[in-house]
Amino acid sequence: MKIQDFRRAKEEGRKLSMVTAYDYTMARIVNASAVDCVLVGDSAAMVMHGHPSTLQATTELMRLHTRAVARGAPDKFVVADMPFLSFRKGLAPAMDCVQALMQAGACAVKLEGLIGHEATLEHIIRSDVPVMGHLGLTPQSVHKLGGYRVQGRDSASARALKEQAARLEELGCFALVLECVPEELAGEVSAELSIPVIGIGSGRRTDGQVLVLQDLLGMTHDLAPKFVKRYLEGCSLMKDALDRFDAEIKNGGFPEDPAKHHRVAKA
Ligand code: KIV
Repeated sequence: MKIQDFRRAKEEGRKLSMVTAYDYTMARIVNASAVDCVLVGDSAAMVMHGHPSTLQATTELMRLHTRAVARGAPDKFVVADMPFLSFRKGLAPAMDCVQALMQAGACAVKLEGLIGHEATLEHIIRSDVPVMGHLGLTPQSVHKLGGYRVQGRDSASARALKEQAARLEELGCFALVLECVPEELAGEVSAELSIPVIGIGSGRRTDGQVLVLQDLLGMTHDLAPKFVKRYLEGCSLMKDALDRFDAEIKNGGFPEDPAKHHRVAKA
């Protein structure tokens, strides 16, 4: 998938699939799948490092995860998240972060919000770095939002969100993530924009969907958000495998008798 394919997919009414990845092993599996696009989300701070929020993600952490994913998924369009405050401290530090992520192998960066960093966003885009926007529930603002809650419920905030989405498209973003907004609002934003809107917890009317890989594979221990669909019971499958490994060590089933292998090889 190339950058042009995002808009083309929307024009042709083809839905886009995106999934997070943070490490080489999982990225290789995603690379072999039909999924369109990979996001090295700052959710890495929570999913891979056990932090309570994404606020603990740093440029260095995102750079390391991006490098691993880019090596594992060379055939995918890799988007890397710019971490908390990395684009709010002035242009030079923001561009250092962009440089670190792009040199680590990202094809694009994703930035949450718009208000207060419009000029930075514009400069990144004018530097020929593709930018994916992110509106609605922006997890880096969790403390201001008062928790992980649905956004754009009232008409004033819905209108503000639509204006920001239009502005992101005008500035040159190639796609937009819309997180946890009512289905109707997500449908209206998707209809109004020419760039694809990729939803998460925002209903069925967006141009695509994104989920955290560990959520959809059932690998998360905590209760996943209601909108998540588990396509695998990863936790219990992996625990069962580990329990069998443990039992076989203790009952002598593993390692196996080399003579048995020898017999099989000879047969
Ligand atoms: O960091 C992340 O995983 C994300 C997705 C949930 C959209 O931004």
